[in-house]
Amino acid sequence: MEERLKKIKEDARQELDKAKTLGELEALRIKYLGRKGSLTLFIQKLGDLPREERPSLGRLANEIKKDLNRKIEERKERLKEKRVLPSLDLTLPGKRPSLGGLHPITQVLNEVTGIFSRLGFRIVQGPEIETDYYNFEALNMPSGHPARGMLDTFYLEDRKSQISDKRQATSDKLLLRSHTSPVQIHVMEKEKPPIRVISLGKVYRYEAVDASHLPMFHQVEGFMVDEGISFSHLKGVLEIFLNELFGEKTPVRFRPSFFPYTEPSAEVDIGCLICKGKGCSVCKRTGWLEILGSGMIDPSVFKAVGYDSEKYTGFAFGVGIERIAMLKYNISDMRLFFENDLRFLRQF
Ligand code: DAH
Repeated sequence: MEERLKKIKEDARQELDKAKTLGELEALRIKYLGRKGSLTLFIQKLGDLPREERPSLGRLANEIKKDLNRKIEERKERLKEKRVLPSLDLTLPGKRPSLGGLHPITQVLNEVTGIFSRLGFRIVQGPEIETDYYNFEALNMPSGHPARGMLDTFYLEDRKSQISDKRQATSDKLLLRSHTSPVQIHVMEKEKPPIRVISLGKVYRYEAVDASHLPMFHQVEGFMVDEGISFSHLKGVLEIFLNELFGEKTPVRFRPSFFPYTEPSAEVDIGCLICKGKGCSVCKRTGWLEILGSGMIDPSVFKAVGYDSEKYTGFAFGVGIERIAMLKYNISDMRLFFENDLRFLRQF
């Protein structure tokens, strides 16, 4: 009897291995465990056996029955799963989740900040809404000064001027800062030299939009004030800055210029990055690219903040970030930076 039981078990195991479909499994179950199944019949016949043989064979038969039942159910479950996901191919390459990245303007701002931090400059934030006083007057551009025309400014209709008519002083008029130079005034009003500061941020100008003009862009302002600061400090700092930014061999030249808040003033050019000085359309055949404005801080600015211009001297400079980014990445249209087209942004 025991031999027969073992044979049933062995046959069932072999057939189970071969069963590939739900139908085959069901047939297998009926064959062994159904009402007329061979194992079922075997168990029914146990009653005919001598008393002493019944318990051990009975136990064994029941174990085999349970085991077979469990294996058939497991196999059925697995076949069902396969049917739900018939074409899941685990070897296919996955989809890469897209990671965000830093905007090219942010990258250039970070780079500029890094260079000046290494030179010991501190980073200061200034307000984007300014008064006429900070944006113009204290920077030696009193009302009616012709240099104001260089900076087409957005004025804000503040509530004060609406309520209390025209008596409001011009210097209190609110505007969107048209450059970052007013940060110089804020810092110098609060602190005494020595000062080494840069300030980065948005500036606004009333301009028609084209490939090289936007009503909002970014500037970096830098300045340094102490006893004995000379033009050679300005030159040294800006040369280091421009060579770190554009590459060590980039030529730098200083050209006399005019800004009301610096005297003397200089505009700084770098050798054209595109044609290497030979002359091309980007540098308008000059071989040079204008990159920033700078100079020695005008004594009238020191006067506005209460510094003794006999004792202290200093330099200042201002740079447009979009212009740097356009030159660095060879981009010909400034509008691309703010259209948020992912095909453009993903390239950085
Ligand atoms: N504020 C000037 C501009 O917006 C840039 C500038 C020129 C800043 C000379 C300075 C400077 O600090 O000394 O174009």
